[in-house]
Amino acid sequence: MHILGINTGLNSSAILMKDNKIVFGIQEERLSKIKNQPGFPTLSIQAALKAGGITLDQVDKVCVAGKSSKIPHSRNEDLNKFHDRYGEIKKIWFGDRENIFAKLAQKGLQKFAHAEKKENIKKLDDYLEEYHLTSKHERFDHHLCHASSAYYGLAENKNDKYLIFSLDGGGDGRTSAVYIGHENKLEEIAASDSFSPACLYAHITYIMGFMPHEHEYKLMGLAPYAQPKYADIAKEMLYQFIGFSDENPLVFTNTPKYQDLRNSGSPQKQQLIHDLYKSVLGVRFDTLSAGLQLLAEEVAIKWVKAGIKQTGIKKVLLTGGFFMNVKANKLISEIPEVEFVNAFPSCGDESNAFGAAFLGYQKLRKENSPEIVFEGCCVGTEATFDIEEAMNKYKDKVSFEKVADINGKVVELLIARKIVARCSGKMEFGARALGNRSILASPDDMRIINKINAAIKKRDFWMPFAPASMEDKLDLVVDVPNSLKKSYSPYMMFTFDVKPAMYDKIVAGIHQADKTARAQTVSQKIYPEFYDIISKFFQKTGIPTVLNTSFNLHGFPIVQGACDAIDVYLNSELDVLVVGNYLITRK
Ligand SMILES: [Fe+2]
Repeated sequence: MHILGINTGLNSSAILMKDNKIVFGIQEERLSKIKNQPGFPTLSIQAALKAGGITLDQVDKVCVAGKSSKIPHSRNEDLNKFHDRYGEIKKIWFGDRENIFAKLAQKGLQKFAHAEKKENIKKLDDYLEEYHLTSKHERFDHHLCHASSAYYGLAENKNDKYLIFSLDGGGDGRTSAVYIGHENKLEEIAASDSFSPACLYAHITYIMGFMPHEHEYKLMGLAPYAQPKYADIAKEMLYQFIGFSDENPLVFTNTPKYQDLRNSGSPQKQQLIHDLYKSVLGVRFDTLSAGLQLLAEEVAIKWVKAGIKQTGIKKVLLTGGFFMNVKANKLISEIPEVEFVNAFPSCGDESNAFGAAFLGYQKLRKENSPEIVFEGCCVGTEATFDIEEAMNKYKDKVSFEKVADINGKVVELLIARKIVARCSGKMEFGARALGNRSILASPDDMRIINKINAAIKKRDFWMPFAPASMEDKLDLVVDVPNSLKKSYSPYMMFTFDVKPAMYDKIVAGIHQADKTARAQTVSQKIYPEFYDIISKFFQKTGIPTVLNTSFNLHGFPIVQGACDAIDVYLNSELDVLVVGNYLITRK
């Protein structure tokens, strides 16, 4: 039985299941080279079928995440909504000078948006018909897909009960939902359609000049630099936009002033945007980020605690774009009542392709047939799929050296303070590079940050890099809360407090303002090769950690295979490149 799961929204994607296992999964951006590419994932579907060795006729069921037929076709669609809404407000506040702000915003953000020719714009139904999929497709609710990805992917024992929280900027008319997962079934116990904390985050991201629904993490990273006393004031001010139901604290509500906000055509939507803009004007960038982050953390904690109190269930799963907020996730992991917590890897809408496929499998599943197996998110293209093409294409520009102990060689280079780009094994699905499409460096020298930024990343100066640590040595590096002692953080979805004794040893992988780290815990089982590198590095240095950041040019998606990797290598100042067993250097 073959099931195809697709997400046609922002960061579109496709996954292929054969029976209860995932054969392949990829985001459209990795193939189109347009970051967060939305729309029908034509290229991803082709890649999935190729990986599975089947044709579209052999797919038994196509599971679509989301009920809506309208699909976005470019990042412009999303961005233009913000430009339009705020354009009106800015005209009121700045009159003719608004033009300058609009021009600046458009100039700054246009590089992220890619228009599609109008005549190419199609609805989902048109695509399904074109590919003869109409009769075998089924659409599943957006938040149910989020919950499904987390539950079927991450619940370790389906006989136990799990409480699943889904929160985002909106999908199928709702912005949050809470489910109980038990015995391979999902039951919705609460939902809301209010202006959510994720909506607030997106709007302030836009107001601060960043790309909404993409750059929220930059505000989260900026937050610890603010002075707490001012951050508290900003947080209280922002509470005028977010509320909870008095009857049921599992339900977010609009505050009384904006209670009809979600009704289409309601003037309150524009009113909220007006009030929000007016409220934040003049608030310092770091203070505003910190106030917003404090609010996000407080409401997330309150929400999860309310769920535990109401249901008695202490195993918690987090999903939906909001929970890309690794700082809020950290605080949830530290709630004493939480016995177990995990967040689906890269829980934005891209992972709804998993959720939809899992729901489809459950529908077709016969009694006594096996449960869904999720063995991590390295389910994409094999790094060396195009190595022969790459050797031919780049033979005049780079040298290829096959190395028997390539992991040992990588460690040798890291110790020599080289920046190593690694493209090996199957590509990770989702926002995080987890060692297979990663830039690696020694973590004990701050100067490496400037070196990586100059060579390739051009990362915002306040944003930290992340450490990847051996799972069995994690206790040496960070404080691990009880709730994460089973699941750890294999997908970089949580931050941790770094042990003071490790500050100097992993200094380049720590947030400099609050000494936390978004650690990836690397287990021998899930990532045998990457684990081998870190353990060899540990044997030589006593540090069970390497620095890990994604292998991509600034503003572009993560590389896919050998050709991509060499192309990026040649367009950067990275020291060396590793693809599979090949050490690649410039001629
Ligand atoms: Fe979503």
